[in-house]
Amino acid sequence: MTAHKTRVLHRSLRETPPLAIGGEGVWLIGKDGSRVLDASGGAAVSCLGHQHPRVLEAMKKQASQLAYAHTAFFSSEPAEALADRLVGHEPGGLAYAYFVSGGSEAIEAAIKIARQYFLEAGQPQRQRFIARRQSYHGNTLGALAAGGNAWRREPYAPLLSAAFSHVTPAFAYHEKRDNESDADFVARLAAELEAEFQRLGPDTVAAFIAEPVVGATAGCVPAPEGYFRAVREICNRHGALVILDEVMCGMGRTGTMHAWEQEGIAPDIQAIAKGLGGGYQPIGAMLASGTIIDTIRAGSGAFQHGHTYLAHPLACAAALAVQEVIREDRLLDRVKERGRQLEQRLTERFGNYRHVGDVRGRGLFWAIELLADRASRTPFDPALKLHQKIKAAAFADGLGCYPGGGTVDGRRGDHVLLAPPYIASADEIDLIVDKLGTAVDSALRSVNQ
Ligand SMILES: Cc1ncc(COP(=O)(O)O)c(C=O)c1O
Repeated sequence: MTAHKTRVLHRSLRETPPLAIGGEGVWLIGKDGSRVLDASGGAAVSCLGHQHPRVLEAMKKQASQLAYAHTAFFSSEPAEALADRLVGHEPGGLAYAYFVSGGSEAIEAAIKIARQYFLEAGQPQRQRFIARRQSYHGNTLGALAAGGNAWRREPYAPLLSAAFSHVTPAFAYHEKRDNESDADFVARLAAELEAEFQRLGPDTVAAFIAEPVVGATAGCVPAPEGYFRAVREICNRHGALVILDEVMCGMGRTGTMHAWEQEGIAPDIQAIAKGLGGGYQPIGAMLASGTIIDTIRAGSGAFQHGHTYLAHPLACAAALAVQEVIREDRLLDRVKERGRQLEQRLTERFGNYRHVGDVRGRGLFWAIELLADRASRTPFDPALKLHQKIKAAAFADGLGCYPGGGTVDGRRGDHVLLAPPYIASADEIDLIVDKLGTAVDSALRSVNQ
């Protein structure tokens, strides 16, 4: 794809990305006619691929009827229907949805509603939040303060609230000791979380925040068996809430609608985004339990928050259509089936690969982690920017994937994340792994490995 002159402030100020002018299923089409297989759905967004006819039809219908109405005056049919689809199906479970424009906004809303809930529940001293290192919760200041990625936090550290502290992530590949079983590791993490509650004062903690499967910062890291049950028990015992960030791993990505369904727990508050609207519109949501909302309803009567584009009718209509397609076409079955294929193909290609230490993930959410030395789990020198070289090599060969650096500690480490659309065919999954293999070989050759 060819570059062009720009006045858009792009992510890189040195390179201008090529223009995309079309999409077709798992493919993105450049202005010069080149085609890129979107193996990561951007950043785990495009769960239905591109230009899905039923979603486009629903958007056209809504746009011709009502594109926007401010929520200070009106609700809309798509917002009501989408909330009915998402929440309220289980007693005591998540019962209300607050629709925003993306993941960071959903996290901001989650943090603020947790705080407001405790104010109105007569526990104003609860003002601390415990999150985990190597997590990402968004780039706005509240979400960035919650996140535990050293590199992203560093420039803004003076602006980040001290209400957030961070514990060790459930990242077995790097954090589990050689002599530890999974159960020992979970017990150690639970003890650390308990100690953090004690350090802060257990009745000052409002919530624990975590991604059930860690996405961009560490590359598709599920927790060991029992970890989230242990976390839930500690939070319950101390009267703190559990906020789960499923912005990336939710909405079917791991093979169940919510990633937490595979952990045997449920959150009090949840953030979703990306796969909610599949990229057809910018939309995210904060989901909250009936207990939280009933307490606020009986108190001040309103969540003291808000944005201009809350519950945008067109965004809700697009997300509703995406969720209808996932349900009607039984795409979660497909995520499981293609997910097994992706795991198998990645394991065949990279399981014994000299510079791949780990192949991990769930559903259609998989990553490979690259290492200079597998035996000692030593990452490559970050100055080599290996993950960026893999991205460039893959893109040049018509593969869009989502490599990241800082896998180990926010500075060292390289991984490549894959999050193909749920509609990907078996051949397309094979092609993704073939092309990724070629890109990894070529990037490693370029750094003389
Ligand atoms: C787990 C997680 N939380 C929050 C966010 C922030 O979402 P957004 O970029 O839509 O603001 C992301 C984005 O990548 C994410 O992966």
